Amino acid sequence: MSNIESVLNETRVFNPSADFVKQANISGMDRYRALCKAAEQDYAGYWANQAREHILWHTPFTKTLDESKAPFYKWFEDGELNVSYNCLDRHLATQPEKTAIIFEADDGKVTKINYRDLHARVCQFANGLKSRGIKKGDRVVIYMPMSIEAVVAMQACARIGAIHSVVFGGFSAQSLHERIVDAQACAVITADAQMRGGKVMPLKTVVDEALAMGGCDIVKSVIVYQRAKSDVAWNAQHDVWWHELVAEQAPTCEPEWVGAEHPLFILYTSGSTGKPKGVQHSSGGYLLGTMLTMRWVFDYKPTDIFWCTADVGWVTGHSYVAYGPLAVGGTEVVFEGIPTWPDAGRFWKMIQDHRVTTFYTAPTAIRSLIKLGGELPKQYDLSSLRLLGSVGEPINPEAWMWYYTVVGKERCPIVDTWWQTETGCHMIAPLPGAMPLKPGSCTLPLPGIIAATVNEAGDDVSDQHGGFLVIKRPFPSQIRTIWGDPERYKKSYFPDEMRGAYLAGDSASRDKDGYFWIMGRVDDVLKVSGHRLGTMEIESALVANPLVAEAAVVGRPHDIKGEAIVAFVVLKGSRPADAAKAKELAETLRNWVGKTIGPIAKPDEIRFGDNLPKTRSGKIMRRLLRAIAQGLEITQDVSTLENPAILEQLKEVIK
Ligand code: WTA
Repeated sequence: MSNIESVLNETRVFNPSADFVKQANISGMDRYRALCKAAEQDYAGYWANQAREHILWHTPFTKTLDESKAPFYKWFEDGELNVSYNCLDRHLATQPEKTAIIFEADDGKVTKINYRDLHARVCQFANGLKSRGIKKGDRVVIYMPMSIEAVVAMQACARIGAIHSVVFGGFSAQSLHERIVDAQACAVITADAQMRGGKVMPLKTVVDEALAMGGCDIVKSVIVYQRAKSDVAWNAQHDVWWHELVAEQAPTCEPEWVGAEHPLFILYTSGSTGKPKGVQHSSGGYLLGTMLTMRWVFDYKPTDIFWCTADVGWVTGHSYVAYGPLAVGGTEVVFEGIPTWPDAGRFWKMIQDHRVTTFYTAPTAIRSLIKLGGELPKQYDLSSLRLLGSVGEPINPEAWMWYYTVVGKERCPIVDTWWQTETGCHMIAPLPGAMPLKPGSCTLPLPGIIAATVNEAGDDVSDQHGGFLVIKRPFPSQIRTIWGDPERYKKSYFPDEMRGAYLAGDSASRDKDGYFWIMGRVDDVLKVSGHRLGTMEIESALVANPLVAEAAVVGRPHDIKGEAIVAFVVLKGSRPADAAKAKELAETLRNWVGKTIGPIAKPDEIRFGDNLPKTRSGKIMRRLLRAIAQGLEITQDVSTLENPAILEQLKEVIK
C-alpha cells in the first residue's frame, strides 16, 4: 500500500506538445471522448466498424458479438480471414520493397528483409510444414531465438491455420515438456542454439531432453533452424533441418481461410496454481486488437521504425513483434541479443544506427540501464525517437522521468501500456496525441474498453481507493478459453462475484481524473524482471527436490527487477547446521529450480526453517512471510499462529 500511496502523491502532468498533437492519429481529448461515446452508444456497432475498417476479410462477418454462451464470447464469428494474409499479402501490391524487418544479431550483424521476400519465406516455410503433414488446427510448439525465422515460423503457422504455442527460449526442458504435452503438439520448431551476450546457448539439446521425458509420441517433426552451427544430436525419425525443408518449396502458398474464432495461438502463462495456463487467442478479434493499438497507442505512421524489445516467447513479442507491426505494414527492428552487451549502450546505439522512431521496452530494462550507465544515452544520437513505451510492470516515477528526460529529451510522449497475456493487446494506455501524462499512471482505458475498479462484492469503488481491476464488457482481443480447461477459464477470470466482468488479477486505484494507477497482482503471481511467474510453480519445483519437505515462495520489492523471489524451505532432514552448509544447500536448490523451470525462476534468496508459519487450520500465513522477507517489523496479528517461535528462525538471513 505504501508504494501506491507514494505514487498517488505524484502531481506532475505532461501535456502532449502541439507538434505531436498536430500529427497524431487521434488528436486531442475530444476525439478520444467521441470514440468512447460511440462505443457506449452502440457497442457492437462500434466494434463492427473497427473490424471492417482494419481487417481484410475473405468472407465478411454478419454477426458481431455472440454473448449467448458467456463467458465464452464469440466475435465476428461467421467472418473468414487469414492473419498472415493480413500481415503480408495485403502489402504486396502497395509496398513490396518496403523493409519489414531489420534484424540485428547478437554480434551486431544486420539483415534486412522486405515485404516481398518475407512473404516468400513465410510461404516456403508454410509449404514445408504442409509437407510434414501439419494442417489446420494442429498445435506447433516454437522454441526459437529472436530471429527473422521465429517470425516466419509464427506467420507460417497462421498461414496454414496451425495453432502455434511459443515457449520462451529461457525455459527448461521440463517446462517445455509440460507445454508440448498439454498442447499435444505434433511438431516443434527450434534452432541448434541461440546467441546471447556472446554466449552460445543450446536449444535443440533442450528439445531432445524434453522429448525424452515421455508422453511426446505425437511429435512427428522437429524442425531445426541452423543458427550457431553447433553440434547437435540427430534423430532421423523426426528431425529435419529448416534449410533442407524449405529448399524445394514454392514461394507462394494459398492461405487457409479460417473463421474469426479459429484459435491463432496458445501461450502458456503463470496463474495461481502450479500448472501454467494455455491462454487461447482468436484470429479475428486478436488481430483487430493489435492493429488498433498500433495506430492508437503507438500512433503508427508509415515512416516509423518501430522497435519492441520483447522476446517472441512472451505476449508482447506476439502482439508487437510478430503480428501488429506487420499488419499495419510497418518497418520493425528485431534484436537477438541483450541490452547490456557488449555494454549498456547497446539499445541507444541501435536506436541511433537504425533511426528508431518508436521504442517499446520494460521498466526493468530501463532501471538496469540507469544503474549501469545512466549517462550513456547522451553519447548517442537519439533524435529519431518520437515516442517511447513501457510495459510489463508498473513504472516507478523516477524511472519514468529518466526515460522522459534522458532518452526522450522531453520531446517524446511515454505510453505506459497496461495489458496482459489474456487481453491480447493494450487495454489502459495513453493515446499520446490526446492524453496528458502522469508519471507512473497508465492513464485511461482505450475507447471501447470498459475498465473499472471494484470491491470483493463486485461493486464499484470510489476514486482514490484501491480495488480489483476488472473489464466490464467483453472485447474482441480477449482470451477465449484456457486450452483444455474451460472450467479453470471461468473460475479464474469470471468468478460469480464479479457478475460477468473480466477479473484481471491486478489491484488498481483511480485518481480524481479517472486515471488508473496499477498496484500489482492480487493473486500469487510475481512479476520478476517483467516475467510472469507463479509462486506455486516455484514451490512445486522446490518440493520436487528429494531434500525438501515443504516450501513457500513470496515476492519482495526489488530496485531493478521489480520483484525478487524469496523462498522459505523446510527440509526433510534437519535444518542446516551452520551458515556454510545453508549457503551450499541454498545454491543447490536455486540451481534445481533453474533446471526445473528455467533460470528466470531461480529464487534470489532461500531461508530454512524447521517449519513454516501456519494457522491452526494448517494454512501458510503468506502475509507474514512477505513481511519477514522484506525485513519488516511484524505488526500483523499472530494470535492465530500455531507455531509463533518459527518466526525468529525465518528472520535469519544467510550471508
Ligand atoms: C503487469 C504483459 C503496471 C500486471 C503485457 C499484469 C503492468 C501483468 C503493466 C500481465 C503496466 C503489465 N503497469 N503493471 N503498464 N503492464 N503489467 O501477462 O500485473 O506477462 O497483470 O503481460 O503485468 O503480465 P503478462
